[in-house]
Order: sequence, then C-alpha cells, then structure tokens
Amino acid sequence: MKTTASYLRVIGFIILAFFLLELIIDSGDQWAIVKYPIIWAVLGMLFFFAIALEIIVAALQRVLFDGLTGEAQERYLLAEKMREDNRFGWFKRKYKEMLDAKPVAKEQEIVLDHNYDGIRELDNNLPPWWVYMFYATIIFAAVYLVRYHIFDGTNQTEEYEIEIAQAKAEVDEYKKNNKDLIDANTVELLTDAGDIEAGKSIYIANCVACHKDSGGGGIGPNLTDDYWILGGGIKNIFHTISEGGRAGKGMIAWKTDLKPSEMAQVASYVMTLHGTNPVDAKEPEGDIWVDENAPVDNVDVKVIDSTTIKIEMTNDPVIDDIQAEGK
Ligand code: HEC
Repeated sequence: MKTTASYLRVIGFIILAFFLLELIIDSGDQWAIVKYPIIWAVLGMLFFFAIALEIIVAALQRVLFDGLTGEAQERYLLAEKMREDNRFGWFKRKYKEMLDAKPVAKEQEIVLDHNYDGIRELDNNLPPWWVYMFYATIIFAAVYLVRYHIFDGTNQTEEYEIEIAQAKAEVDEYKKNNKDLIDANTVELLTDAGDIEAGKSIYIANCVACHKDSGGGGIGPNLTDDYWILGGGIKNIFHTISEGGRAGKGMIAWKTDLKPSEMAQVASYVMTLHGTNPVDAKEPEGDIWVDENAPVDNVDVKVIDSTTIKIEMTNDPVIDDIQAEGK
C-alpha cells in the first residue's frame, strides 16, 4: 500500500512538472516538449530526484520507527491505520448523506404495513441528491420562464437565423478575400462598377483585336446579340473565356493568362455589352440562347376540348427587345 502511494506520488509529480513547464515556457503553437527536447532531460532528472526523495523519506521513517519502543510502535501503527481509514472521509460522509438510505438492519423502522403476497414496502426518504436536483429544475424553470417568456430572450428560431446570417457574412467575407476560387460552375455575374471597369480594361487589353471595341465582332463573333455559338449567360461565357472556343477557330483558352477573378470580371463586362446593338455588328452566329433558370415569361393555356387543355410555356430570349425590333 505504501509503495503504491509512492509510485502515484512520483507519477503525479512528473505530470504536474510537465504541465507547469508547458505553462511557463513560451513555445508558440507547438508543445514546449516538441520545440525544446531538452525538457525530456529535465523531466528525467526530476523523475530521479522524486524517486530519491521517496526512498530517503521511507528510510528515515523506517529508522525512526525502529527507534521507538514497542508500545510507541503500536500507537504509531494505530494512528496510521486511523489516518488510512479517514482518507477521503469527507467524500464518504457526503456520499452517505446524499443517499440517506436506511441501513438494512434498521429497515424494520420504516416498513409499511402493506403486504402483497409477502412483498412489503419500505417508506424510504427521497434521496437528497434527487430532491436537490428536483429543486434545481424548479429554479431553472423559473429563470427560463422569466428570460424567454417575460423578457424577450432569443428563441431557437432566432438563434438559428442569427447563426445563418453570421455564416453567410463569413462566406461573403471569404469569397471577397478569395475571388480566385471560382470556376465556370460557381461564377456569378458581377455588378459592382469597379469589377465592370476592371473587366473593361481586360477586354480592351486582350479581346478587341478579334471582338472589336463595341463587341460587335470581327475575327470573333458578335458578343452583343442573342445568338451564342458556345452558349450565353455568365457561366457559359466564363467557360468559353477560360477554356477557349472550338479547336482551330482562334479563341484561345485564357485561363493561363487571366486569373479566375479577372475572367469573371471580363465575362461580366461582356454581359453588359449584350443588347447594345452596335452599328458595325457582325451577323449573328450560333443559336438563340435562353436562360433556363430565368422566370417563365409567357404561359399560354389553350382549351382544346372539354377534357383537354394544352399549356405552352415560352422563355423569351435574354433580351427580347432586339428580337422584337428585328422582326
Ligand atoms: C485571336 C482572336 C480572338 C481573341 C483575342 C479573343 N477571341 Fe473570343 N472568340 C474568337 C473566336 C474566333 C471565337 C469563336 C470560337 C468558336 O467558334 O468556337 C470567339 C468566341 C468568343 C466567345 C463565345 C462567343 C459565342 O458566340 O459563343 C466569347 C464569350 C469570347 N470569345 C470572349 C472573348 C474575350 C473575353 C476575349 C478576351 C479575353 C476574347 N474573346 C479574345 C476570337 C478571339
């Protein structure tokens, strides 16, 4: 028993020393013991010191004990035993108190006179730990009631909404700082004047040779009409700029020259050219492009006979006035 206590003391001491060292030595994000391996040596030394101390104390005790008279030795042993028994006395007492159980020997005092086929009932006190917890729930309920039903505490729905709003703000912030994370699937039309301006400069520097200042088209197709060879809308345009046109047509993949953020800017600028109808515009090439996600413009319901109707839904081109004017 005594040796176990010694072991525990030594181990406890080393653990304590370890955490103390970690606490006082500034090692940044790293564990101090990783950054300064010398700590291993320090701990090792402390370990031997602790063992030595334990041995010395034990030896001293032995010597003192041997020096006592027989009667004194007995008294000493008795005192030791009392100390041992009283260890954790407070916890033991509290534990008993919280259970408040009648010892089996005294159960006669609380047995009720109910008797069901020999099964009898004890009238035990409610265990205090249970009673205190019950009181705690009452206090909790009162505080809860006042906080959430009398004063306007945030309820679950509000907490949820606050967290969503916060997360959204964080995502926006993140996107703002990481503009180059976008690709053709995630790109969104930029409407910020600064972005459009930047897109315009990129366009003038790289694209006018083939698409003209106005976007009316030259070597490359007209970018202002409803007709697109490779698809309209911000995602397709971004994709075309990033990956280039069909092989051999002259539109290279710009992803090696432009950053994703820049391609998003120039794609957004190209979108602003749409519908400008420049005088020198090239003939339309490709197909009319309709945004599938755009709201349906016309719903036509035709009654064919008393049991059948026909519903026609049409999506007009992205900008329908050009179409209308042309016709
Ligand atoms: C060397 C000439 C040339 C340059 C420079 C050029 N393009 Fe093109 N571009 C073309 C050609 C040719 C096509 C048609 C590709 C095809 O038919 O596959 C095209 C197609 C496109 C399309 C698709 C049009 C459609 O109808 O689907 C977009 C959008 C476009 N270019 C944007 C740009 C942008 C933005 C730049 C500048 C960063 C640029 N281009 C630079 C020649 C060029």
